[in-house]
Amino acid sequence: MKTITIGLLGLGTVGKGVVALLQKQAPKISRTQDFQFKLKSVAVHNLARHQNDDLPAGTILTDKVATVVDDPEIQIVIEAMGTIEPAKVAICQAILNGKSIISANKDLLATAGPELLDLAKTAKVDFFYEASVAGGIPILRILSSSLETDQITQITGIINGTANYVLTAMDRKKQDYATALQAAQKLGYAEADPTNDVQGIDATYKLIILSRFAFGQSLRCADVPSQGITAITPAQLQSADQLGLKIKLLAVAKEFNHQLFSFVGPAALPAAEPLAHVNGVQNAIAIQSDALGETTYTGPGAGAAPTANSILSDLLATGDDIVKGNCGREFNSYRRPARARSLAAVPQRYLITIAGTGNLLSIASSVPTAQWERQVTSNHYWSGLTPVITQAQLNTLMKKLQKSHQQVAALPLANSWQTTPAPVTV
Ligand code: NDP
Ligand code: HSE
Repeated sequence: MKTITIGLLGLGTVGKGVVALLQKQAPKISRTQDFQFKLKSVAVHNLARHQNDDLPAGTILTDKVATVVDDPEIQIVIEAMGTIEPAKVAICQAILNGKSIISANKDLLATAGPELLDLAKTAKVDFFYEASVAGGIPILRILSSSLETDQITQITGIINGTANYVLTAMDRKKQDYATALQAAQKLGYAEADPTNDVQGIDATYKLIILSRFAFGQSLRCADVPSQGITAITPAQLQSADQLGLKIKLLAVAKEFNHQLFSFVGPAALPAAEPLAHVNGVQNAIAIQSDALGETTYTGPGAGAAPTANSILSDLLATGDDIVKGNCGREFNSYRRPARARSLAAVPQRYLITIAGTGNLLSIASSVPTAQWERQVTSNHYWSGLTPVITQAQLNTLMKKLQKSHQQVAALPLANSWQTTPAPVTV
């Protein structure tokens, strides 16, 4: 049986999960494959932190990335360090040294993916990154294999485990934002710096990667209007509930007329929608496509074991390519010119929430621009759903409300988006 030697960069939540699952599943891998893996070395930032870590006997622990990426014996490098630099430098060096790459790093894949993947293709090495989107859900393989022959028209995802955990805890357990975020950090769901999780940036990165697979279009961060969950209030969550809605951090890409409309941010979802019931660290991706209609994929979006499972599925695919001499095949070869548009700018319905006290009931009648379709009120908030209005109408409405009320917030109602073709310029 062939032994494939691997190296690991990073021994945090994900790295530790990989080591544990690799040890646990080694007997099954040897039974089902005609190769086995040997973990030769692991690079970390701070050696002192890892003195008591459980590594297979003989594994080298180092604080020098070069020990892994320059080792001629290592054929596959798993990158679980995170951040863009120095992960990018390490991966480039490993590729130039002829090693196949497996990465969980969505920041890097979203911002420098095409460049790195081209480098890997030229060097005839594999580069897989299933764990970079939705943790344990094998969504990239589904898109690049099972759905390759279908025409996808929309992807709607809950693709940040931390944000979904925080919103669920605020909604169900009535926890405050800071307490909920701390719990997500303790559980290993959040990034080392959770800013990207709560500000919608992590979900934007994942939507960019998903869109390459689903639509063949490579969006840039600047193409995706994005917002986070930091301003979501208990009043918004409670009033949404009363209106039969749930607030979720959504990532949406919708193709219309060859243009890709995208949006990342908190949105209100009717409680009857499957995505409204995706709670805690669970992620979900609802895909609309011509042949299948709507399919929804749910599962854990972060955490050691689910992420490690995605990495190990990449490891098996790479091992197989190495044994068969097939390295260099692309994970995703669908490419079309990007025609990016903002889903936030199209006419849509909004959930408006005004927090405070006073005569909140009088608000509806004071707003002539919108006939509220549904509204609720309590001692602490008033909330209503607008009909489909333009962004300009929303701005006028918000200005009017903000004159008399301090805490006014608007969230889009999911799937109320009225996409239209871009005006033709001659
Ligand atoms: P952690 O912060 O828990 O771990 C990062 C690891 O990388 C640490 O062991 C750290 O070393 C090491 N590291 C950082 N910088 C260097 C460096 N310059 N040289 C060598 N080692 C370094 O992160 P996670 O495990 O949570 O995440 C890793 C990657 O996986 C990220 O890209 C993340 O976005 C992605 N990911 C994470 C998921 C999760 O659930 N956590 C899910 C899916 C993807 P030290 O311990 O010494 O500081
Ligand atoms: N911090 C990320 C999340 C990890 O919470 O979804 C998985 O990519």
